[in-house]
Amino acid sequence: MGAVSIGSVQLDNPYALAPMAGYGDPPYRRLCRRGGAGLVCAEMVSANAVFFGDKKSQRMLAVAPDEHPLSVQIFGAEPERLAFAARRVEEAGADIVDLNCGCPVPKVVKGGAGVALMKDELLFARCVEAMVKAVKIPVTVKMRLGFRRGENISPRFASLARESGASALCIHARAREDGHEGPPDLDALAETVAAVGLPVFGNGGIHNYQDARRMMQGTGCAGVMVGRAAVGNPLLFLEFLEEEKNGAREPQAINAAPRFSLLREHAQLIVDYYGEKLGICRLRKYIGSYIHGLYGAAEFRRRAVGAVALNELLGLLDTYEASL
Ligand SMILES: Cc1cc2nc3c(=O)[nH]c(=O)nc-3n(C[C@H](O)[C@H](O)[C@H](O)COP(=O)(O)O)c2cc1C
Repeated sequence: MGAVSIGSVQLDNPYALAPMAGYGDPPYRRLCRRGGAGLVCAEMVSANAVFFGDKKSQRMLAVAPDEHPLSVQIFGAEPERLAFAARRVEEAGADIVDLNCGCPVPKVVKGGAGVALMKDELLFARCVEAMVKAVKIPVTVKMRLGFRRGENISPRFASLARESGASALCIHARAREDGHEGPPDLDALAETVAAVGLPVFGNGGIHNYQDARRMMQGTGCAGVMVGRAAVGNPLLFLEFLEEEKNGAREPQAINAAPRFSLLREHAQLIVDYYGEKLGICRLRKYIGSYIHGLYGAAEFRRRAVGAVALNELLGLLDTYEASL
């Protein structure tokens, strides 16, 4: 699989970290980039909140020097506010700004944003166009296939995005009614890829290199974005690159040592970024994924989520690792 370009941004490989609210913060993105991701995507940020100067949202635009290429995603349904937020994203140093047209969460959809933008062709096009006019960095769009299973309205929206100046797309190959469950619809994704003359990243249900290869070869998409399978496994991207080069590996016994060292590194990065109290609290939701499948994982997790200080957590990790 070759390198991919998104407008002027060249990626070293086609395996990207998908945007995930609550997970895709700078510490985790840096780990994934080091773990081989060709592109890392930030969690969605509200264009309205940026427009109104909300401090937390502005902080979410922060870019670390070692995480490029980085795409920062915004959501909203008002072209002027999206344009404003896109400019802030560019000023903050992101390489790409993405428009969220796939989020099904009620509080997003209620305001006409996320997947609701796929109900209004004119507004969708105006939103993309306003962002494209506002910035020099490439603008991309992440969308779903449609609302109901079996329906594929993404070719139409993909064409509108291209005509409005978008440089690439990510298609989550599921319908809104699927949420995040069920297999991706590769036939529908292939139809969209064939219809639009832009690089398309496929997304949905990729757990391993075989899934990524199946999606890329079966649909012609230029790359893939991996969501949940990368949580607690930032080295997944290096595994993909290794398998791409050397062929599929036999399923292997879990090697616990790299997981522990990544979790320690993650703990340090997250504490450096948020401070000890908030950082340790934010780390809790990743812990289960790092130790998934290891003997005594549930018991360790129960203890680890009670830790309030970095040293306490690191001590628990040492004891647990030594016990395996
Ligand atoms: C916890 C969580 C948060 C998510 N947040 C976002 C988001 O902020 N923006 C977005 O476009 N998609 C978001 N998604 C959707 C993912 O980017 C991706 O499309 C979805 O998880 C399917 O990919 P997967 O099957 O590889 O996990 C989120 C998904 C999850 C599970």
